[in-house]
Amino acid sequence: MRPLRLALSVVSAAVVLGGQLTLAGSAPAGATPSAAKPSPPPTYPADSLRALAARVGLRIGTAVNPDLLGTNEKYTQIAAEQFSSITPENAMKWAEVEAVRGTYTWEKADQVVAFAKKNKQLVRGHTLVWHNQLPAWLSSDGTTTTLSNDEVKAVLKKHIFDQVRHFKGDVWQWDVVNEAFDDNGQPRQTIWYKAWGGTGYIADAFRWAHQADPKALLFYNDYNLEFTGVKSDAVYAMVRSLQAQRVPIHGVGFQGHLSTQYGYPDLTNNLERFAALGLKVALTEVDVRTQTRPDAVNEPVNPLAPYAQESYWSRTLQACLALRACISFTPWGFGDAYSWVPGWFTDPQEGAALIYDEQLNPKGQYEVLQQALALASGAPRR
Ligand code: XIL
Repeated sequence: MRPLRLALSVVSAAVVLGGQLTLAGSAPAGATPSAAKPSPPPTYPADSLRALAARVGLRIGTAVNPDLLGTNEKYTQIAAEQFSSITPENAMKWAEVEAVRGTYTWEKADQVVAFAKKNKQLVRGHTLVWHNQLPAWLSSDGTTTTLSNDEVKAVLKKHIFDQVRHFKGDVWQWDVVNEAFDDNGQPRQTIWYKAWGGTGYIADAFRWAHQADPKALLFYNDYNLEFTGVKSDAVYAMVRSLQAQRVPIHGVGFQGHLSTQYGYPDLTNNLERFAALGLKVALTEVDVRTQTRPDAVNEPVNPLAPYAQESYWSRTLQACLALRACISFTPWGFGDAYSWVPGWFTDPQEGAALIYDEQLNPKGQYEVLQQALALASGAPRR
């Protein structure tokens, strides 16, 4: 790949994001500087993904691990400089925030929110209602529980109110409900489905989240919505039914976990049809995995695979850029060494799914994103 050569000057967040010529935190002309100096605005390169995306009003995000923020210097610097939105990869999941019933442990999630504030980033809250990563006291498998139906309903309501209120004003988009449908387009038979005797929990979850923070954008989030088929159709029908019931749903998140072993999806059609319902859309968890060596999980078996991966990354970002309703594009992490893919997709072994390599050096996949953004000056501003 030819590296993209753009001006490497360092600019302030205020200049790029606000389009202003004054620096945030600088004193107005003629004013006496006060004794307590405000902290300087964050700086990042003019050819960073976030600076380029800001020119069309797109937020470019990443999932982060709070244990690495502050402890791994290179990781921390990239997270701050390249991205204008942050998703805690695991830190806001129910198992993390309430492992012991009635005792909240918000520290790690709070740390992510503080990092975002410091670096002028917005937060995608992930996720309130899911069948995975539930605390053991609630369910070990997402489909069975020792609690009664009424208790399940009560704990979900409390969970949503407590968590959304805790982060009120700090979360831009919430993934309120995650992965409620299976690949056959059937509602998953989760503890939520069983307690409600149907998908009615989805409407309740959105209503509660909206009451707890009326300003947050509320999303339904799922994978394989990128492809037209029974799953995407089922979610589309569900969203229309929520709208008919005047449920406060504002967006649909396309996770975007892609693999070169499948053809590139008809993402544009699907983004467009959901957007045509008057919703925002977002790419929320993008990675592009490929078959790799079991003894070197981020080394593609096929030396040409990175070119296919670059094409998938570029087209996915361009599909979002082309649509005003597509408000954020979030790769699921950035360094191959920290990706969930090699541990999750092992038959066959897949990996090399992110835009930085194991040493946190940018790959060709990073450069195609940079190029797509650099060439997007004609894209609609959002
Ligand atoms: C994954 C995380 O990346 C892993 O660290 C964790 O072990 C399992 O969950 N869809 C989602 C994400 O909505 O929350 C998942 O994240 C990936 C699939």
